[in-house]
Amino acid sequence: MAHKTTFSLTTPLYYVNDVPHIGSAYTTIAADVIARFQRLRGNQVLLVTGTDEHGQKIQRTAERLERSPQAHSDQISAAFISTWKQLDIQYDRFSRTTDPRHAAIVQEFFHRVWQQNDIYLNQQQGWYCVECEEFKEERELLENHHCAIHTNRQAEWRDEQNYFFRLSKYQTQLENLYQKQPRFIQPVIRRNEVLSFVSQGLQDFSISRVNVDWGIPVPVDPSQTLYVWFDALLGYITALLEPDSEPTLDNALKHWWPMNLHLIGKDILRFHAIYWPAMLMSAGLPLPEHVFGHGHLTKDGQKMGKSLGNTLDPVVLANRYGADAVRYYFLKEIEFGRDGDFNESRFVNILNAELANDLGNLLNRTLKMAVKYCDGQVPLVSATEIPADHPLKSLGLSAGDRAAEAYETYAFSHACEAALALVRAGNKFIDQQAPWSLYKQGKQEVVNQVLYAVLETVRLAAYLLAPIIPTISTKIYQQLGFSVNFNQQSAQDNLMNYTKQAQWGILSPAQVLGPPEPIFQRIEL
Ligand code: MSP
Repeated sequence: MAHKTTFSLTTPLYYVNDVPHIGSAYTTIAADVIARFQRLRGNQVLLVTGTDEHGQKIQRTAERLERSPQAHSDQISAAFISTWKQLDIQYDRFSRTTDPRHAAIVQEFFHRVWQQNDIYLNQQQGWYCVECEEFKEERELLENHHCAIHTNRQAEWRDEQNYFFRLSKYQTQLENLYQKQPRFIQPVIRRNEVLSFVSQGLQDFSISRVNVDWGIPVPVDPSQTLYVWFDALLGYITALLEPDSEPTLDNALKHWWPMNLHLIGKDILRFHAIYWPAMLMSAGLPLPEHVFGHGHLTKDGQKMGKSLGNTLDPVVLANRYGADAVRYYFLKEIEFGRDGDFNESRFVNILNAELANDLGNLLNRTLKMAVKYCDGQVPLVSATEIPADHPLKSLGLSAGDRAAEAYETYAFSHACEAALALVRAGNKFIDQQAPWSLYKQGKQEVVNQVLYAVLETVRLAAYLLAPIIPTISTKIYQQLGFSVNFNQQSAQDNLMNYTKQAQWGILSPAQVLGPPEPIFQRIEL
């Protein structure tokens, strides 16, 4: 895969109807892992996240809570910022759709599309789900016009004059796009969903609302408010403005556009894979490279929801088990792209088995032996002299490429597997070699080689896992005697060199090791 010097990606801009839930945390953690991997590659990265604050859903939530929509949005967007901090998310831009600069970008974009004659007035009749902020076909709804996603909510009948976007005009151009760039929509299952939807014929969609004040007025008709999705998608572009630059499209698009990746959940695929590229085509702007739609999470096999009383709070989980535990479980356990489940005992078992036992114990017992048998230093061994068919070296030599390929294709569980394979081989090797008895037999050189190979294998595993469990990887590196921190982006040039760090055999002989301490406390339920 071609190596780029820049990589830009987005999470969705989350609705501020409520504080972050595990679904929004899931998308954001995955985006952060991709961003961290790209930084380790030495690339310049821009990770955009933020909040989607306009529209009827937010207006109604604020009314119910007797707050102004702006005060409500301020409060909830602050909760997003603090949750992302607790989950160790290193974003570069936080885009809020109530930022006054965003209104300027939206107006300019609207005018471009208007000038293409792609916006017209027409009558909109249909069933609207405020929770989805989307019109629904009658056949998509359940009994009594209940929404299939928000089953406790009824869709509302609308019959009003709205401005429409001429989506149908872009049918062929979109089909050509999907054909020419087969990886535009990922994974394949989502691409197929979109192809099948588009093949039924695209309908123009309304991009304005009457009787909704909370939003950006339609530039050519301030009696109407722009549809929240038309406004929100453009938040990705507003985010690209430098803090002190004039809010114009030209300025925003100068550096990071087109984005490499929009990471989203499968429920908002149509907006990103159909509406958004068509809007960009109309405005004459380049298209993003990829849209990846991940699956949905359930809890104990059940759909999560407030009304079901089974929501999973990412803040509670992170406080109880640590950010790394949350990040690891969701990315290791669930094949990215597919639906997945959270179950607390499974969560505890996996973390205990893989992080506390396999990885933690391997480091801990090896370090203790290095303290006893090698004066607390990396043993004096030259990695180049270890034969290429050594069981750990041979595995280590290909692990970096395996993990890189997995990260590049967003196959996070495979990246974890590449690292775990090293860890498991390390445990097996040390049991077979039994350095404690080699030491008793006076075979110091063999002891040195065994311990060097295992320490280096743990280092490599920690490096490969660093995008996912940055705090644990930092502890491992520090115990191996490095003074680095995977959570600090700046001045870590040595870490940002994947080609070098993801090799096997770079641990320096005689480096003074740190005191052995558990890297992950076993969880007792
Ligand atoms: N505001 C829009 C996005 C606008 S982007 C320009 C929106 N916001 S949201 O807050 O509803 O976003 C939710 C994100 O969380 C989506 O990516 C969605 O797929 C994800 N999830 C919501 N519930 C989820 C699960 N149960 N499981 C996994 N992710 C899910 O949509």
